[in-house]
Amino acid sequence: MSALRPTNDDSAIWDIWQAQFRLPVINVNAEVGTFKALSEAALTTDQLAAQLGVNARALSMNLAALCSMGLVEKRLGLWRATHLARTWLHPDGEGYWGYFTSQIDFNTTLRGRLLESLRTGKRPGDAGETASRPVEWERGSMSQEAAAGIANFMNAHSQAPALGAAAQSVFGELTSLMDVGCGSGVYGIEIARAHPKLNVVLMDLKEMATEAQKFIDRAGMGKQVSTAGVNMFKEAWPRGHDGHFFSNVFHDWSDATCRLLAKSSFDALPSGGRIFLNEILMDDDYTGPFPAAAFSLLMLVGTLGKQYSLAEFRDILGSAGFVDVEAVRTGGGYYSLVSARKP
Ligand SMILES: C[S@@+](CC[C@H](N)C(=O)[O-])C[C@H]1O[C@@H](n2cnc3c(N)ncnc32)[C@H](O)[C@@H]1O
Repeated sequence: MSALRPTNDDSAIWDIWQAQFRLPVINVNAEVGTFKALSEAALTTDQLAAQLGVNARALSMNLAALCSMGLVEKRLGLWRATHLARTWLHPDGEGYWGYFTSQIDFNTTLRGRLLESLRTGKRPGDAGETASRPVEWERGSMSQEAAAGIANFMNAHSQAPALGAAAQSVFGELTSLMDVGCGSGVYGIEIARAHPKLNVVLMDLKEMATEAQKFIDRAGMGKQVSTAGVNMFKEAWPRGHDGHFFSNVFHDWSDATCRLLAKSSFDALPSGGRIFLNEILMDDDYTGPFPAAAFSLLMLVGTLGKQYSLAEFRDILGSAGFVDVEAVRTGGGYYSLVSARKP
């Protein structure tokens, strides 16, 4: 009669949580004119962005969400409104539903943030004269209280995919793994538990490494898992690991910063070493799926990043010198493990 242990499948909870993105993204795109424009003509993302006066990168993230909801479709690189959107979301149509969806919408905070980021391409608060509100870790340091809060929320959302990642046999081929940007350390801890011969170091900013140590102690994994307080952008990377694991780290950063991270990892790994990126992947043609597209909208309004596709990761990792880029879906949720090798 008490709580049950986590499993590797929390997709039903993800679906409930991500449902909050569905209505605001429709309302925002009705407001800027996406459905009307794509009912009149087939357009590329750049053409549509120019016509609507919005940011093309942010628009591509919105279109992926709309596409995965069946409201727009992409063929030969051109976007079109679907039959559904032309019937119910064209503002000049008899069936226009927008009067209702826009007035009976209680999630105005997210709607406002999505609208601002679609117009500016930036996280709300970062654009123009308004105060910058970078997430805590972008400053390179944070209060212990902030670190504890972040570790807790990341731990909640990472437990199931950590079990999924840990089950992958490839970790049994390594001797030492560094979990870069570890947060609570749940991934490194579960991977270590599943592979008892593997040595794991949880690496993060020093305040977060302190929090991760508490999770190690709680899990009783101190013999196999330790921590390192390192700023991955400003300090030398620890050597001696034949694997680097990043979960939900690349999605926080721009393409250019991801390339820097990939290069730092490449330089610190020995020949034959492996890099792993645990992420919810966009489809290669950037048309969904909804869990990735909705998560990408969260990155748009809250970070400097987005959800990447495997094609984008292959390009980013390849630019650093990695080869053999591939991905496998892990567990019952939405995460995939991307891996590549240093020749
Ligand atoms: C989205 S969280 C991911 C946490 C964990 N990997 C997970 O998936 O649950 C991103 C992590 O990157 C860390 N991070 C951000 N900037 C960093 C830096 N400069 N050096 C080291 N870690 C950093 C943050 O502190 C945070 O723990």
